[in-house]
Amino acid sequence: MDRFVISGGKRLSGSIKADGSKNAGLPIIAGAILISKGEVLLENIPPLRDIFTIKKMLEHLGAKVEYDPKSMKMRIDSSKINEITAPYELMRQMRASFLVLGPLLSRMGEARVSLPGGCVLGTRPVDYHIKGFRAMGAEITEEGGYVIAKAHPLKAATIHFDKPSHTGTENIIFGAVFAKGTTRIVNAACDPEVVDVANFLNAAGAKIKGAGTSTVTIDSVKSLNPVKYKVSGDRLVAGTLMCAAGITGGNLEITGINPSHLTMVSRKLFEMGCEVIEGKNNIEIKGPKKLGPVKVVTFPFPGFPTDLQACIMALATVADGTSSIKETVFEDRFGHTMELRRLGADVTVTSDEAIVRGVPKLKGASVMASDIRAGAGLILACLAAEGSSEILRIYHVDRGYDRLDEKLSALGADIKRMS
Ligand code: UD1
Repeated sequence: MDRFVISGGKRLSGSIKADGSKNAGLPIIAGAILISKGEVLLENIPPLRDIFTIKKMLEHLGAKVEYDPKSMKMRIDSSKINEITAPYELMRQMRASFLVLGPLLSRMGEARVSLPGGCVLGTRPVDYHIKGFRAMGAEITEEGGYVIAKAHPLKAATIHFDKPSHTGTENIIFGAVFAKGTTRIVNAACDPEVVDVANFLNAAGAKIKGAGTSTVTIDSVKSLNPVKYKVSGDRLVAGTLMCAAGITGGNLEITGINPSHLTMVSRKLFEMGCEVIEGKNNIEIKGPKKLGPVKVVTFPFPGFPTDLQACIMALATVADGTSSIKETVFEDRFGHTMELRRLGADVTVTSDEAIVRGVPKLKGASVMASDIRAGAGLILACLAAEGSSEILRIYHVDRGYDRLDEKLSALGADIKRMS
């Protein structure tokens, strides 16, 4: 198993382009199941483990998928989809595989989808997805770890989410594209990736309005057309790099992104003393000599992203003062705090809140990534720590960041991948 070895204390500087968004690419690839005639050409698809997993899933279902990691283009021909089972073997690697449920149900009228695996962040149910499809008339049972769904066919409905669910909103949109009538999702997730999914489907002929707001309306259409679509830049990769500039007192320009996807992140980094300049498709960020403390509450978009909670916590560990970081999206997303303590951080967790008392310096140690973003947060902390650190289980990081080690190296970090 690979690990990263980092020698901390180097300032990062330079310009870097964020790849396409994983969390937009995954649902868009799943959504290609809905296009039964002609080809889907996707651009800006990042070469990540999760992308290869969903590619395998589509191939298993009968689609023809060609992907060139160099040009980051993917061609999908879903005309011969003939399988309705999404197997555990592929599902357990990544929770987002559950996104094939909506498209299969919509296109094939039935689906047999294993309950998902992926990052463990407390209990992560899929009840909103199930309730939504039931409201649309699907008959759903659970057997042997599989969700078995039958549409007769799906019909339009108004669906209320208790909380905005990101993939839940996308799955229901997929189910609604051909469901006769007008479907409404109330308390929908407003994330930019949901907007990307709606833009992709609309470019193929769907009639989706309100994506990016809390009410999404889908008027049914009879079929979708072949389409070419470019996925947006990854705001989470960009946010991680912004934090890397902040924690190393560095100076980075991040291109290929929409700064409005990162407003809350920019704001919090500014509060910590970073200089942030937002361009049209880029952000320039300069870290201060000493970071100040911050108060962060994670919240569905446009709030502070839960996926960057570990990263901002890394910055707080070396800030001059006490920070508070409250996690309101997931119930168990503080796995990284124990590892940060191994680096000398002073963090106390009380149920959903971490109190972080900044220390003058972190010290290198061996730490372990427990999920994609926890791993990213630990990398940032190690970039700032005195001496040498190693990060184990970086396969988690590779699920969400393409060659992060090489990219950080090019910006001046001393980071090596060891087998
Ligand atoms: C997506 C992102 C993930 C991000 C998360 C929150 C992808 C592939 N993953 O995950 O990176 O951290 O959004 O921004 O895009 N919930 C239920 N029942 C459900 C669905 C959700 O109770 O059926 C709860 C969850 O437990 C959680 C909250 O709703 O507390 C939000 O989860 P959700 O937005 O659905 O996360 P994901 O879509 O899985």
